[in-house]
Amino acid sequence: MSTTDITKGESKETTSSKELVSIFVMGKKYEVPKNLTIMKAMEYAGYKYIRGCGCRGGICGACGTVYRKPGDYHIYVGLACQTVVEDGMYLTQLPFFPANRATYNLEAIGSDPEEVYKKYPELFRCVACNACTKVCPMDISVMDYISAIKQGDFEKATELSFDCIQCGLCTVRCMGEMSQYHIAQMVRRVTGSKIKPKASHLKTMVDNIKTGRYTKAITDLKSMSEAQLRKVYPEREMEPTEAPEDWKPADTTYL
Ligand code: SF4
Ligand code: SF4
Ligand code: FES
Repeated sequence: MSTTDITKGESKETTSSKELVSIFVMGKKYEVPKNLTIMKAMEYAGYKYIRGCGCRGGICGACGTVYRKPGDYHIYVGLACQTVVEDGMYLTQLPFFPANRATYNLEAIGSDPEEVYKKYPELFRCVACNACTKVCPMDISVMDYISAIKQGDFEKATELSFDCIQCGLCTVRCMGEMSQYHIAQMVRRVTGSKIKPKASHLKTMVDNIKTGRYTKAITDLKSMSEAQLRKVYPEREMEPTEAPEDWKPADTTYL
């Protein structure tokens, strides 16, 4: 982040109210319009996001933030693009969360839960405090998926953790000091590759990529100017929201 570039574009609508609140960003006080999200308030204050910002819609998990409120001893966490500022809020952005992430070769391991337990023994430090579930912005039952993993029920853990956006906020609050989301990611990988039946259409698509079926299309897209991309993108044929099972686009060249 830098303070050299003031980006106020997205805040115009809300700033018209002129109602300001004070926030402290990394110890420095700023007056910002109330009702802004932390992300927009920081931009209003002059910060430019270089890291720690992606979708701005609560789905990429890049914008973890830690904050306190005046007269409140709790430490809060949230997504900067979703959390609205409050007067006196004292905050800092987490451009990267140094969570423990094991390395493993998925091809070389089987479906035995021990494979995960060996990589993440801290899993068994869970004290069932449920603090992780309470902070999850995706309303995921984090404690329950950790419990399912401990019981070796990887399919249940996969189901429960499927909407995880890898924001890391659960880890910030964990008394067991584990990175729940990385553990669940390994479990989903094991489940998808070793436990669930293989998806034949996925294999077809991967083979298509390997044999270069989409290479020309990608090369064509990469050679376009921004103006051309802006034109073709909204003109593309999209799958209808309520598409029937057998829906196909008019152009089946790349199916
Ligand atoms: S499980 Fe953890 S990392 Fe995943 S969305 Fe919830 S808080 Fe974020
Ligand atoms: S925060 Fe950590 S210790 Fe508490 S329930 Fe979640 S995983 Fe277990
Ligand atoms: S910027 Fe993607 S979740 Fe906040």
